[in-house]
Amino acid sequence: MTEMMTSFNRSVSFKRSASLGRRAPSVTSPRVRRLSWVSRKFHVLVVIGSLISFIIAIGCGYLFLLPSFSQAFHDYDTSKFNGTFSSCNVFNGSWVQDDSYPLYNATECPFVEQGFNCLGNGRNDKDYLRWRWKPKTCDILRFKVRNVLEKFRNKRVVFVGDSMSRTQWESLICLLMTGVENKTSVYEMNGNKITKQIRFLGVRFSSFNFTIEFFRSVFLVQQGWMPKHAPKRVKSTLKLDKLDNISTHWINSDVLIFNTGQWWVPGKLFETGCYFQVGNSLKLGMPILTAFRTALGTWASWVEKNINTNRTQVFFRTFEPSHWGDQTRRICNVTQNPLSEARGRDQSLFSDTVLEVVKNMKVPITVLHITSMSALRSDAHVGNWSDSPFTPDCSHWCLPGVPDVWNEIILSYLLTD
Ligand SMILES: *[C@@H]1O[C@H](CO)[C@@H](O)[C@H](O)[C@H]1NC(C)=O
Ligand SMILES: *[C@@H]1O[C@H](CO)[C@@H](O)[C@H](O)[C@H]1NC(C)=O
Ligand SMILES: *[C@@H]1O[C@H](CO)[C@@H](O)[C@H](O)[C@H]1NC(C)=O
Ligand SMILES: *[C@@H]1O[C@H](CO)[C@@H](O)[C@H](O)[C@H]1NC(C)=O
Ligand SMILES: *[C@@H]1O[C@H](CO)[C@@H](O)[C@H](O)[C@H]1NC(C)=O
Ligand SMILES: *[C@@H]1O[C@H](CO)[C@@H](O)[C@H](O)[C@H]1NC(C)=O
Ligand SMILES: *[C@@H]1O[C@H](CO)[C@@H](O)[C@H](O)[C@H]1NC(C)=O
Ligand SMILES: *[C@@H]1O[C@H](CO)[C@@H](O)[C@H](O)[C@H]1NC(C)=O
Ligand SMILES: *[C@@H]1O[C@H](CO)[C@@H](O)[C@H](O)[C@H]1NC(C)=O
Repeated sequence: MTEMMTSFNRSVSFKRSASLGRRAPSVTSPRVRRLSWVSRKFHVLVVIGSLISFIIAIGCGYLFLLPSFSQAFHDYDTSKFNGTFSSCNVFNGSWVQDDSYPLYNATECPFVEQGFNCLGNGRNDKDYLRWRWKPKTCDILRFKVRNVLEKFRNKRVVFVGDSMSRTQWESLICLLMTGVENKTSVYEMNGNKITKQIRFLGVRFSSFNFTIEFFRSVFLVQQGWMPKHAPKRVKSTLKLDKLDNISTHWINSDVLIFNTGQWWVPGKLFETGCYFQVGNSLKLGMPILTAFRTALGTWASWVEKNINTNRTQVFFRTFEPSHWGDQTRRICNVTQNPLSEARGRDQSLFSDTVLEVVKNMKVPITVLHITSMSALRSDAHVGNWSDSPFTPDCSHWCLPGVPDVWNEIILSYLLTD
């Protein structure tokens, strides 16, 4: 067993506090990066298309009024813990080799999109599959599929965010499917296939009467058309004071996992003509990090107002680092082993902002501060082994892989507290 000597300086925080000082201070804008970006017309088409399919999806109707989590799982291995899992700094630790990984075979899981199945797409080295996260002062629970399936019985688990959230959603479904004999009893509720722009995907585990859902909301706040009298370069705006209007569908859930971050870059915003708006006023000069903080404030108020945290356990995952070899995002040199020292673009300013906003909230939120731990995993990106081998990808992760560990951490919180 090799122990990577790596530690870092972030702590998770989920304090209750009454202060509501959430005004955005002036801050420097985050490091600029360029992204390949869809043309505006395509973007508009896609928005219309996904709106229509979303309305159809919702039209089909689903209603879950679920009882609260109360069942305890006495047979779950908690013997290694001193005190509660949440008192441990789960994110201070190291990656250790463990041959009991990976936890599933992506080729046998119909919910892994082809682009993330690295082995299936020709990756030969397998070391990257065999790493477990070891917090310094506690252990993540061993994944025992039966216990998790029972824990989720009659529940609704909802992921909200960008494609990183979709990957994690796929990962959780595949983890859980290893415990389901009749694979056809697990299906997408509307018969939809996984596509990049789809607004809603919900997979039902019918024998256990629960769903694992994904809502695509890359900014969490609402994107709207160009306002009247706006300068020509403004094609659309991001309404920082309004949460995405599919948010009503996130409310009656039992587990709610958010992320945002990857789209808060000039290439996805200003370069596509998308600027910030608060109320009726355009904020043309507002730095991205300030806008990000404002949007998170909107999210925080929405959670406080709409989510009954007695029933719903809320998580927010911090920024997922990428490991591009250059500024133009063309070189992606996936390594064979994790780094011994965090490198990669970790956007810690975004992660710090999440921690800060959550700290000032009146309800308990668990921050999944996975930024630094994931920054060590330059070996775990899709690289050339995606569905389009000519566009390397040093942002997304292979499945099985790092997103499984994010899920194991969530499951540890759910099963120990
Ligand atoms: C991580 O653990 C090390 C050693 O136990 C400790 O020195 C360090 O302060 C910890 N970091 C955080 C952020 O808790
Ligand atoms: C399935 O779950 C829902 C929501 O908790 C519940 O109302 C319903 O009774 C459950 N169905 C069965 C067959 O247990
Ligand atoms: C995954 O499953 C496929 C199809 O059953 C099989 O061909 C492949 O060898 C398996 N891969 C691993 C790593 O077990
Ligand atoms: C648990 O607590 C005991 C004593 O209280 C200590 O010796 C031991 O190292 C602790 N184990 C862990 C994993 O923290
Ligand atoms: C598997 O599940 C499907 C859908 O729920 C059901 O129609 C089928 O009868 C099940 N097959 C077995 C062998 O239980
Ligand atoms: C979503 O927002 C748009 C304006 O941004 C509005 O026209 C539309 O009615 C909203 N849809 C729902 C379902 O609330
Ligand atoms: C949540 O639980 C607390 C303590 O049991 C109770 O005081 C509070 O009213 C509950 N909140 C809601 C919204 O049910
Ligand atoms: C890729 O990484 C390997 C090992 O870390 C290194 O030897 C090689 O020079 C790198 N190639 C590029 C193009 O960065
Ligand atoms: C990916 O492909 C490019 C060109 O096709 C090649 O230069 C590079 O070495 C490949 N990288 C890996 C990690 O295989």
